[in-house]
Amino acid sequence: MINRVYIFDTTLRDGEQSPGVSLSMEEKIEIGRALVDLGVDVIEAGFPVASPGDFQAVQTLARELRGVEIAALARANPKDIETAWEALKEAENPRIHTFIATSDIHLQYKLRKSREEVLQLAQEAVRWARKFTPNVEFSAEDATRSDREYLAEVVVAVAQAGARVINIPDTVGYTVPQEYYDLIVFLVERLRQAGFGEALDKGELRLSVHCHNDLGLAVANSVAALLAGARQVECTINGIGERAGNAAMEEIVMILRTRGDYFQKALGTALETGIDTRKIVPTSQLVSRLTGMFVQPNKAIVGANAFAHESGIHQHGVIAHRLTYEIMDRESVGWSGSAIVLGKHSGRHAVDYKLRSLGWKLSREALSRVFERFRTEIKDVLRRIPDEYLEGILYDEYLSEN
Ligand code: KIV
Ligand code: ZN
Repeated sequence: MINRVYIFDTTLRDGEQSPGVSLSMEEKIEIGRALVDLGVDVIEAGFPVASPGDFQAVQTLARELRGVEIAALARANPKDIETAWEALKEAENPRIHTFIATSDIHLQYKLRKSREEVLQLAQEAVRWARKFTPNVEFSAEDATRSDREYLAEVVVAVAQAGARVINIPDTVGYTVPQEYYDLIVFLVERLRQAGFGEALDKGELRLSVHCHNDLGLAVANSVAALLAGARQVECTINGIGERAGNAAMEEIVMILRTRGDYFQKALGTALETGIDTRKIVPTSQLVSRLTGMFVQPNKAIVGANAFAHESGIHQHGVIAHRLTYEIMDRESVGWSGSAIVLGKHSGRHAVDYKLRSLGWKLSREALSRVFERFRTEIKDVLRRIPDEYLEGILYDEYLSEN
């Protein structure tokens, strides 16, 4: 199987469905451009039939953005699909993403249709979409709560109808990694039995995953699915999205990059993406600012504390060698500045290190004096101590007398 993982970014569609988020057209274009720079493979720009605003957003992004596939969402009916195409048609590389639910819960309470009817609608939807473009993705909404045998039937049927990408969403964030892994292995097997082995191996047909974070497992489930053979992952910047959000792109990308050794051992090859990881933090900050969804400080990769060391023991270790407490290079994801953060747990080594990085090399005695005052003054006062505060102590205690 191919070792390239395709990043399908749905920040502007599922991400924008986060409660309270509403982006203007200019903001969508700014985020779209940042996503292209970041190196995503597909941008899901919206759900054109949902509103005139969504239609216009997809149309504008399709016209403006180059060097990326633009996807638009459509339910499995001709009107949605035609509207999606109308919005998409000027894109350099358009993709129609059509979906229908496959779980009995959705069939009974939402769609009020039988399994046979849904199977037929799914196949027809792919055929309708292919009248406009060969680049068609099908999603089996609520796949993880669907009957496995029935889901496999739908998956094979849409592959036969010509879908290039088949997405297996964990719509309500219900599955757990081993279960999801087994499901993807099972579906790959069924596709191989149906004659799609070569297409899967060459990447001409791809299984995709789309995980929500209701149980905090969206990233873990996505990674499990990649280990099982999925080669497209749907995700958002900062993990924003409906309810508890979607799988966070930055985490998935950095897991693949940081643990290439593990994937090499498990699959015989590391998995690669086209993401320029140095653009991760700037993109995260842009999305956070424009959506108003602040990133928690301890969020992996992009949280303000993700690479910060405050405790004396950790600071001492990192100053001696960063590998002691760092598994990634902070610059590699776009952070700049020092990882050493001064606070009430900081020790003498950190104060010395900070002063040196500010250009001050102190004698032992002077350092002791500055450190003593630093320790006494900041105790229980502030959380993060700005560099200027330390320099202020230095001036007061030492330089002002000399
Ligand atoms: O969560 C979901 O199932 C979706 C689909 C429309 C792909 O967002
Ligand atoms: Zn979703």
